[in-house]
Amino acid sequence: MSGSMQTGIPNQPDQYVVIGNPIAHSKSPRIHACFAAETAQRLNYSTLLAPLDGFVATAEAFRAAGGRGANVTVPFKLEAFAYATRLTSRAQAAGAVNTLMFDGADIIGDNTDGLGLVNDIVRNAGIPLQAKRILLLGAGGAARGALLPLLEQQPAQLIIANRTLSKAQQLAQAAQAEFPDLVVAACTFDTIPTDCAFDMIINATSASLQDAVPPLPGSVWQAQPLAYDMMYGATPTAFLQVAAQHAAQCRDGLGMLVEQAAAAFALWRGVQPATGPVLHELRMEMQVAEGA
Ligand code: ATR
Repeated sequence: MSGSMQTGIPNQPDQYVVIGNPIAHSKSPRIHACFAAETAQRLNYSTLLAPLDGFVATAEAFRAAGGRGANVTVPFKLEAFAYATRLTSRAQAAGAVNTLMFDGADIIGDNTDGLGLVNDIVRNAGIPLQAKRILLLGAGGAARGALLPLLEQQPAQLIIANRTLSKAQQLAQAAQAEFPDLVVAACTFDTIPTDCAFDMIINATSASLQDAVPPLPGSVWQAQPLAYDMMYGATPTAFLQVAAQHAAQCRDGLGMLVEQAAAAFALWRGVQPATGPVLHELRMEMQVAEGA
């Protein structure tokens, strides 16, 4: 696939972008430049700001100019889902697209977010998900994208807790139909089972954006679970601060960001990049920025 002249511009490096609004502070160009250098792939990757009402026009202009693929971020993942002419099964399950590949007349839509989460937990943190008891917080787009990749790892049980019960129930029912042999349940924060020694609590709510924490009963921390926040920042999110107070093992979403990028890169280029070096670099930079 790499270097193909099918839709690219002859003798030019293949062009990729991340489309979002806002997009200036995206770490994706940096991550993909590292992957390209490491795998000796000749490509350019940059940011592309789309007007809030102009995702499709922006993506189409890039495609017409010979662009080979794009990552898509907030707030356009649902529009990218509708824009794709072919969807991978994981994009269908997620109901959203974060990766587009332009292949002749085809616009292939994929979603690598859930795989990125699983790879960060299993490979980078070294924690298998098989037979684990997982509490997933939230039932929006981020939770939906994570759900099936998590269940593919065969956890002992997965409980979805959300402020709005009906949304958690909908997700749980759809997931249970896909995985009839696994235990999938839904609840609100105040009906989380208190007798369940969770191995892992994954925060897929957007509460961290408001510096808020879902109101969890103290019992969820009893087995000193892994606390994973899909968000990240220079300082620990409010959720991870609470988790640390309960002696949980804490992990933010920076590794998920790098891993979803690696899965997109592999789709586009047919080569799997190593993620450890760039994750380490980004982590060091964030710590330096925080200390400055
Ligand atoms: P995303 O794409 O980031 O998942 P979303 O689809 O809008 O965004 O979903 C946001 C999720 O965070 C929802 O599960 C939402 O709960 P509701 O379904 O009840 O709205 C959850 N959420 C947002 N703010 C929250 C808060 N302060 N406390 C708890 N949950 C919150």
